[in-house]
Amino acid sequence: MKTVFNSIVLVALATMVQADFSEKFRDHFSNLPELLKDLSRKSQLGPAGSFGGGNHVGGAVTKKIPIIIVHGGGNSAGSFEKYRDHFIKQGYSNETVYATSWGFPTETIQQSLEMKCEYVKRIRKLFFLVASFTGGKVDIVAYGEGAPIARKAVIGRNCVDTNQDTGNSLRNEVRAFVSVRGQNGGILCDPSGDKRATCLNMDIGLNCGSKFIKDINAIGKHWKEAVHSIHSIVPLLPQKTNCGSDSCGIPYSKVYEYDFNGVEQNVNRVVEILKKL
Ligand SMILES: *[C@@H]1O[C@H](CO)[C@@H](O)[C@H](O)[C@H]1NC(C)=O
Repeated sequence: MKTVFNSIVLVALATMVQADFSEKFRDHFSNLPELLKDLSRKSQLGPAGSFGGGNHVGGAVTKKIPIIIVHGGGNSAGSFEKYRDHFIKQGYSNETVYATSWGFPTETIQQSLEMKCEYVKRIRKLFFLVASFTGGKVDIVAYGEGAPIARKAVIGRNCVDTNQDTGNSLRNEVRAFVSVRGQNGGILCDPSGDKRATCLNMDIGLNCGSKFIKDINAIGKHWKEAVHSIHSIVPLLPQKTNCGSDSCGIPYSKVYEYDFNGVEQNVNRVVEILKKL
């Protein structure tokens, strides 16, 4: 009877404690409680806020170069657990796959999305923690609307909205950047009167002509300086914005066409690219 009871308790615990950064990760950074709180996103999103860390001993080098997953608009880290699980099936582990939620899902849906400095800084902060925890370089895999946020995080420099200096490029710490259908060139806004807030926002919207989108692309040179190995996985049929740019393209990137067949094939493609590096 006691054993039955214990296993019921264990099952209940296992379903309760789904994610958030692991205990090992949280312990390692227990001297930085504010930072941990901001990145775990637990108070806003509960267990969907973040994941990663596993049983790794902080500071030791992981066997595999860890990846940070940057989710798309309207999503959270939790929405990418199925991606994490498939990365794990492909040789990764809880010690080598990390994510935080850069914004609150209802505020980051594509039509009203703003590329805020707050989001960029959150990705940068996670990057520094993961790099320190895993003792070496990190790969970044960014999806959809998360890709321009992650690119700005890697480039560093001043934010478009707050003019805050976010710091130097992460060139020497990021090994590879993989954008998966990232909205790097902006989204397809209708120039003859698109009502979507993000298309009307010429500062930090996803309009191809916004200051933010220009900032991460016009300085293609800086972007190239900011990371050595750049890969963009794009739809088979190119999507051109009204600026003439490719919606999913990144200057100087290696381009892989893909027909987006769901999580498993998607992750397999990323793993294939990273394996060759
Ligand atoms: C990885 O972490 C998740 C929670 O974040 C957990 O549910 C899963 O069991 C862990 N996997 C392994 C192999 O430890």
